[in-house]
Amino acid sequence: MRDVGIESLNVYMPMYSLSLAELAKARGVDPQKYRLGLGLEAMAIAPPCEDAVTLAANAAAPLFERGLVERDEIALLLVATESAVDHAKPVSIFVHELLRAHPACRTYELKHACYGGTAALMTATQWIASGASRGRKALVIATDIARYDIGSAGEPTQGAGAVAMVVSDVPQQIAIDFRRSGSFAEGVFDFWRPLDRREALVDGQYSVDCYLRALDGAYQDFERAGRNGDLKSPLPITDRFGVFLYHVPFPKMAWKAHRRLLEIDWRLRDEEEPPEECFAQGSFENSVSPYLAACRAVGNSYTASLYFCLATLLESHGERLRGEQAALFSYGSGCCAEFFNGVVGPGAGVETGVQRLLAQRRPISVAEYEAMRTGAEDDKSAPPDGFQGRFHYAGTERDRRRYLPVSG
Ligand code: CAA
Repeated sequence: MRDVGIESLNVYMPMYSLSLAELAKARGVDPQKYRLGLGLEAMAIAPPCEDAVTLAANAAAPLFERGLVERDEIALLLVATESAVDHAKPVSIFVHELLRAHPACRTYELKHACYGGTAALMTATQWIASGASRGRKALVIATDIARYDIGSAGEPTQGAGAVAMVVSDVPQQIAIDFRRSGSFAEGVFDFWRPLDRREALVDGQYSVDCYLRALDGAYQDFERAGRNGDLKSPLPITDRFGVFLYHVPFPKMAWKAHRRLLEIDWRLRDEEEPPEECFAQGSFENSVSPYLAACRAVGNSYTASLYFCLATLLESHGERLRGEQAALFSYGSGCCAEFFNGVVGPGAGVETGVQRLLAQRRPISVAEYEAMRTGAEDDKSAPPDGFQGRFHYAGTERDRRRYLPVSG
């Protein structure tokens, strides 16, 4: 059977950034709490003319424009989000229209909090591997705007962005091992967003515990899958994978996760002494931290966050890491999680948009951010000067039909 995985990938992020040092000053918090305690420098703020639809379409459009995929090659278009714009009409069909995708295409929206992007990626890889794709390709997009109440503990962990991925049997960027993955699910109320709210509600410290428990469960399932039920690996996990990518609600969470993973692995292997290097900062600095650069500046992009780490890896470290084994962990509150792995592909090392878009961002003040947040939901503002997207949202018409977000 041929390899399956991500052939090409492109990101999009809003043009505004809010410095967390500025936010800390405005909230009377020690800036070191956000910088060191959460690992954050800034977060992306979406202007009123952007939503989950435009972020998704803006991430995907350059893949067609640069000739990385043709419209009639895409027969599955999956959009994962927890920032949906309608209870019935999915974000995916708006995106399908904006991208002028081919009509012979299965398309739908997926939701399971931040796990949705991985659910979509796994669905796409297995669709390709099954042969049902008949040589065609899938377009998977993870898109979100993370919002918590102003002044809440979650406020510094907001953000926004989208990652678009072409999935095929030519995995130039990363081959996904779809035969071996570990899952974990448990009904919990760690983070939720009732239907009438734009801002999420969260039991913050509990959500951190749920994330780590899900990591434990998903990793054990992954290990079981790899060795026919035997949990005891002959080699420590750090000898099996050179790269670890995590869901990143805030970068310090990846540090907590990595530390916990190495500890779980050591316990499963039932060794007397924990290997010294496992618990040292070194493993995190070498195998996790370099890929957190975008998340430190963008903040939480929910479904897209894990794939911002992948985009950073592919663009800034891809050439050096070709052939490297990567472990990935995806967590969605509520909760469902998956631990899976892949091999960095021979085409890694090309632009994914991360550096370019980060460099083009415009800093805004806390007052400007607050004004954008408290503005009307149906604000029809024109795109601001310097807007980088192809599409922007232009409001609603009769019976709250959404105008299609128009080309910028
Ligand atoms: N200097 C340096 N560090 C400081 C500091 C200072 N002056 N003051 C505090 N800190 C450290 C604390 O020691 C703590 O570090 P540790 O976790 O290593 O102990 C860190 O800063 C954060 O401090 P608190 O725990 O006191 O912070 P908090 O309770 O105010 O808020 C939070 C933290 C709970 C994560 C909150 O931001 C939140 O609710 N965020 C949203 C929920 C979330 O992101 N959950 C993550 C798991 S769920 C998930 O992953 C799904 C998802 O995307 C939402």
